[in-house]
Amino acid sequence: MNVLLIGAGGREHALAWSLSASPLLGKLYCAPGNGGIAQVAECVDLDVVRHTDIIDFCRASSIDFVVIGPEAPLVAGLADDLGKAGIKHFGPSRAAAQLEGSKGFTKDLCRELSIPTAAYGRFADRASALAYLSRQPVPIVVKADGLAAGKGVVVAMTREEAESAVDACFSGAFGDAGSEVVIEEFLEGEEASFFALSDGTAALALATAQDHKRVGDGDTGPNTGGMGAYSPAPIMTPDLVERAMAEIIRPTIAGMARRGMPFKGVLYAGLMITSDGPKLIEYNARFGDPETQVLMVRLKSDLLAALLAVADGVLASMDLRWHDDAALTVVMATNGYPGSYRRGSEIRGLARAGEVEGVEVFHAGTRRDGDRILADGGRVLAVTARAPTISEAQARAYRAVDLIEWPEGFCRRDIGWRAVAKDQIA
Ligand code: AMP
Ligand code: GLY
Repeated sequence: MNVLLIGAGGREHALAWSLSASPLLGKLYCAPGNGGIAQVAECVDLDVVRHTDIIDFCRASSIDFVVIGPEAPLVAGLADDLGKAGIKHFGPSRAAAQLEGSKGFTKDLCRELSIPTAAYGRFADRASALAYLSRQPVPIVVKADGLAAGKGVVVAMTREEAESAVDACFSGAFGDAGSEVVIEEFLEGEEASFFALSDGTAALALATAQDHKRVGDGDTGPNTGGMGAYSPAPIMTPDLVERAMAEIIRPTIAGMARRGMPFKGVLYAGLMITSDGPKLIEYNARFGDPETQVLMVRLKSDLLAALLAVADGVLASMDLRWHDDAALTVVMATNGYPGSYRRGSEIRGLARAGEVEGVEVFHAGTRRDGDRILADGGRVLAVTARAPTISEAQARAYRAVDLIEWPEGFCRRDIGWRAVAKDQIA
């Protein structure tokens, strides 16, 4: 079958790499794709916001299945429009993608279903938000309700910081995303990324993973989309996986179905593992980036078959097998990220890096210029390695990183530190 993958990041390169190994695959296209995805798929220059262009392309190129990577097209209803056009797809409807698109929606759902999460208030005006704040302890977390490209969350250590975050939202710093504000209790613990496929009824957990959101070594500095990840996540014991499924994922899937907005896709729960157990920080309606890079190199089963089982509503009969090996990915970003940065610097040494045993170099933001690969984004590469232990995967990933010649880029040098420390005790 012919497949069209939507997206342009490291997540999509990893998905494309995995899809391209499927015996079910005919031809793989990716829109818009990037310089690395072009090695495994034909990149097509479609404007993803123009749903009719995507549908026309699907018809002209005999596309049997569309896999939607990022959140923006989901929240914009691409899955709904493909459905109306009779095109099979992987990714939730606009209504179900509210789990990511509206933090207030998700918090209300959690309250109704008694899903463990931070206590919160939801406000549409500055005065009532500030009045609520004045009654809460600090630290406290202020979030713009809508999609703000990962920038709409402030973990405020002081009341002043929290008040200025509220002001920023209501003064339009996040556009429409900030027209409502969620203020929530600060949760303490270790974070984990938890993924489950769902066909609207059944739910199937993926392997566990953790990412590093802060830009600097030691988990310091501003938040980013993710500077690295690893799998498995030692903190997610089998008991915690079962609790996350029973207390968070399954009630959500059942609740969404009852509301007439079944969630069909991959549900990504950002969890805080607190002393009381797992609590939901937020939902995403898509695969994580860079968690997908480590999950894909550990997946033994056919990804395309699994995504089709979701679309066909037969996930209950599906199982997934994983390599026992660990995986770790190091993101290389352009100097300046997550602030402003320049595009267009040349990256050399990628072929040699890709030859390190167990290593796949996924491209997150590159473009091809003849034979050259140029940086074309903030997060640019995800250097990913598989090995019997997390420590060995880390060593392999950094060996490959060190073969990449790119003075205009940087990476963290400590990806996986928590898991490596546990590895060495074990
Ligand atoms: P989010 O975009 O909701 O994932 O938030 C970004 C980051 O802010 C999370 O990964 C956490 O590190 C932090 N965060 C969000 N909500 C909370 C909370 N209630 N308590 C503590 N940290 C939080
Ligand atoms: N790794 C964080 C995210 O995908 O949102």
